[in-house]
Amino acid sequence: MHLKHLGLETLDVVNLRVGGLERPTPGSIAEPFTVLAELRRQGLIRHLGVSNVSAEQLTEARSIAQVVCVQNNYNVATRNDRELVDRCAREGIAYTPFFPLGGFTPLQSAVLDAVAARLGASPRQVALAWLLLHSATILLIPGTSSVAHLRENIAATNIKLPADAVDELDRIGAR
Ligand SMILES: NC(=O)c1ccc[n+]([C@@H]2O[C@H](COP(=O)([O-])OP(=O)(O)OC[C@H]3O[C@@H](n4cnc5c(N)ncnc54)[C@H](OP(=O)(O)O)[C@@H]3O)[C@@H](O)[C@H]2O)c1
Repeated sequence: MHLKHLGLETLDVVNLRVGGLERPTPGSIAEPFTVLAELRRQGLIRHLGVSNVSAEQLTEARSIAQVVCVQNNYNVATRNDRELVDRCAREGIAYTPFFPLGGFTPLQSAVLDAVAARLGASPRQVALAWLLLHSATILLIPGTSSVAHLRENIAATNIKLPADAVDELDRIGAR
């Protein structure tokens, strides 16, 4: 941690990154998470999160210190975390899906394209709007190097997905 390099006294949020990109790696995270909890106790970190974790690892982390966010791989096509997303909403934990647009493998789906065309939106905007619909505690962190894409992604928060579109989109990840 390089607080001096960043010119900060405290880091607002630090995630303990645990497993691989595809799925969590099982096993205890008590040791590294306890170290972060101690740094938080010392005032160097304000909030703690966990990334690439299983439900069991989230439970273990919460037994050590407060967890404010979970950052796992989740999008309209990759939905292994469906239950964890719901649990985070129930327990008041932010869920910040990484690869919300597919990451290294950009989302490609005829259904996404068709829904987007009907709504006069872009497929990426529909994918983001779908995520926001799914939980009150989802925070979106799509990556972009383009100001135009950033504007487009922010505008996705205004898209209202009709129920029939949601049904179609839900079926993408069910396949
Ligand atoms: N915790 C972890 O293990 C982990 C792993 C991976 C990523 N992350 C984090 O998760 C966040 C998102 O991940 P990510 O950026 O890899 O994946 P992503 O958000 O799913 O996809 C980013 C890609 O989508 C493109 N894109 C963004 N907006 C677009 C738009 N409106 N239209 C067309 N293309 C668009 C970007 O290209 P342009 O630049 O051309 O817009 C970029 O190639 C990042 O903050 C990243 O650091 C965390």
